[in-house]
Amino acid sequence: MTHPAIAANGLRKSYGDKAVLDGIDLAVPAGTVFALLGPNGAGKTTVVKILSTLISPGADSGEIRVGGHDLATDPQAIRATIGVTGQFSAVDGLITGEENMLLMADLHHLSKREGRRVAAELLERFDLVDAAKKPASTYSGGMKRRLDIAMTLVGSPRIIFLDEPTTGLDPRSRHTMWGIIRNLVSDGVTVFLTTQYLEEADELADRIAVLNNGKIAAEGSAEELKRLIPGGHIRLRFTDPDAYRSAAGALREVTRDDEALALRIPSDGSQRELRSILDQLESSAIEADELTVHTPDLDDVFFALTGNDDQPKETVR
Ligand SMILES: Nc1ncnc2c1ncn2[C@@H]1O[C@H](COP(=O)(O)OP(=O)(O)O)[C@@H](O)[C@H]1O
Ligand SMILES: [Mg+2]
Repeated sequence: MTHPAIAANGLRKSYGDKAVLDGIDLAVPAGTVFALLGPNGAGKTTVVKILSTLISPGADSGEIRVGGHDLATDPQAIRATIGVTGQFSAVDGLITGEENMLLMADLHHLSKREGRRVAAELLERFDLVDAAKKPASTYSGGMKRRLDIAMTLVGSPRIIFLDEPTTGLDPRSRHTMWGIIRNLVSDGVTVFLTTQYLEEADELADRIAVLNNGKIAAEGSAEELKRLIPGGHIRLRFTDPDAYRSAAGALREVTRDDEALALRIPSDGSQRELRSILDQLESSAIEADELTVHTPDLDDVFFALTGNDDQPKETVR
């Protein structure tokens, strides 16, 4: 087994007497997408800045390793392994997209020729060829964000930090960005992204950590997180009224919908519960026409965990 791409134990950071990060553990396997999810001010950017060596962790933090390198003793090696696209763009608006790319190539000590080759390839890949000779200040938000990521990729990083990569983008640009992130992962790159959007974490991430009040409130796959909170149920639908009535009698804890001939059974959606329901139906020789498992969505989880249930729900769709 290879070591995780990113591992942190007891990550802490305070500003004055305010603890922003109050002991956070993270483990991100190589080649996966990890989403750090949290509301504004939760400390997401602080985590990204620490892991990417831009600011130092609190002195009482535990061990932090990125790309296998110890952050305390070998930050230089980490910098050579990673790419960071910050929440605020690194794009220089006064020069063209191509010039921004060539500047990055210079920073990575690529030869003039190699720099031109890499810049041309990335501009092509991010659909910026037509805009390459125009000042970046004339780019749309989505184009600037694509240029930003293209610049990050000049050094061929194996681990990429994306701090709120789609905040402020329109839905089309957001979907383009999701495609870009998926492509990075299919190349074997590890992606650590932060987001305020539940849908985004759900779409992209293998694992999600919810950051709240300086701690990880929950961590797991989207499905695991959804199973953490009540509200899930199994729905059985029948076409035969007799079968429906027998099932309603045979099963415990059902809510009936006589009109739709449907039964609703509270469930965490686990295999064990599903099997127990199927067994009960089987032993009574009842066959449902349709069985669906309903899990609460990430919105429910997020608001349950962060205690902000009164907030209006985010709709990104
Ligand atoms: N340099 C700083 N000095 C003092 N407080 C800071 C500094 N940077 C961030 N903070 C505070 O730390 C908290 C977390 O900030 P940040 O990591 O930017 O959150 P997020 O990225 O999740 O919105 C906020 O309350 C912010 O005001
Ligand atoms: Mg931030």
